Amino acid sequence: MAWKCTVPRFAVRLEHTETHVQVLRDLFAKLDLDAETETPGRAVVRHIGESLVKAMETGEPDAAELVAAECVVHAETKDHLDWELIGMLAGKAKGDVGQALKEAHEQVEEEEDEHWYKTSRPRSAPPAPRQERGRMKKKAS
Ligand SMILES: [Fe+2]
Repeated sequence: MAWKCTVPRFAVRLEHTETHVQVLRDLFAKLDLDAETETPGRAVVRHIGESLVKAMETGEPDAAELVAAECVVHAETKDHLDWELIGMLAGKAKGDVGQALKEAHEQVEEEEDEHWYKTSRPRSAPPAPRQERGRMKKKAS
């Protein structure tokens, strides 16, 4: 599979994502929710994920990295929006639920901002200025 040649570039992001999955599993446990429950939305997300992998496997080897990068843009954009939503819910929810959402959001927010920032700009772009990172952070809380 040609797209796997791009994995080293995304290795740190994969490590972050695996940690974020655990943060969500811990959040589900705190909220007494079953993380394995099949929902219609979960089926759609799985289908999209499988489609992104198929897109990466379909391309010409020379284009594999570009296709993989496009797929990461799609995935990180959705990921960023989901964590922004969790941050907004954390700001509205009260009591133990609000606290659990805030703790989960705080653990992930900075890395997700970084994923989205790096994904949504060309590699030649300068790093995000500190004040812009802070603005992204405030916006989510
Ligand atoms: Fe991400």
